[in-house]
Amino acid sequence: TQVYLNGEFLPPDQARVSVFDRGFIFGDGVYEVIPVFGGRLFRLSHHLARLDASLSAIRLRNPHTPMEWNDIFTRLLAAGSGDQSIYLQVTRGVAPRDHAFPPNITPTVFAYAQPLKYSPPEHLAQGVAAVTTADIRWQRCDIKAIALLANALLRQQAIDQGAAEAILVRDGVVTEGAASNIFIVKNGRLVTAPKGPFILPGITRDLVVEIAHAKGIPCDELPVKIEMLSSADEVWLTSSTKEILPITRIDGKPVGDGKPGPMHAKMFALYKEYKQ
Ligand code: PDD
Repeated sequence: TQVYLNGEFLPPDQARVSVFDRGFIFGDGVYEVIPVFGGRLFRLSHHLARLDASLSAIRLRNPHTPMEWNDIFTRLLAAGSGDQSIYLQVTRGVAPRDHAFPPNITPTVFAYAQPLKYSPPEHLAQGVAAVTTADIRWQRCDIKAIALLANALLRQQAIDQGAAEAILVRDGVVTEGAASNIFIVKNGRLVTAPKGPFILPGITRDLVVEIAHAKGIPCDELPVKIEMLSSADEVWLTSSTKEILPITRIDGKPVGDGKPGPMHAKMFALYKEYKQ
């Protein structure tokens, strides 16, 4: 199976990037993860719109049209089977090390497909554990930047504490997970953080909000204070690869009755129906 690098399709061990690539040196680039269900690139236009937003935020031109991206993904996906995901990244390119942008630099464009690793069924059946921790990231979390050191440290901290995800808290408010968005359910209402510089505008998050509105499930995009998290009936995480997962323990304490709740069952059924 081949990867895409700068216009070529190559076996992974023949794909070469310079050690002076600014992605390697500075983490100067952006990425996307696009799930592929039943051969369909799920919410592709939303992912490409977010890619555009990330690229313009770091002042890079999108190297490809939506049609060209689609052709690249289609070729990468042809070798695989079952549900897959596409990873793509665009870095500023190769130049002698200097913080300032070099003039006339060509971006490095990389993409590959891999089988989608679904969460084990017990995660859906029983929910997962999470820990809360300070959101130590910067103030442009809306950019899907490849520089993920803080996210990696935070996720590992959760794993080390026997949990699946870190729930990040900034100024007493829940922003998101280390690699997911967070929803709470209270008295039949969904609440999730509003968009802004402190969260990634998750494609799965937006879909859950969209489904809630379409099906008449009350859903607010409001700051989730830490006290709202601890008194929630249900807490979920959402992402392209984890879909919608119930969080049933936070910092060692049960969420609600400690089991996945009825609102999760309802939303997950609606989500699966949408996926068809
Ligand atoms: N991460 N917030 C952060 C910080 C994320 O990294 C992600 C996704 C999300 C959820 O966004 P979406 O629903 O569009 O996947 C929220 C991807 C999956 C990753 O880095 O692998």
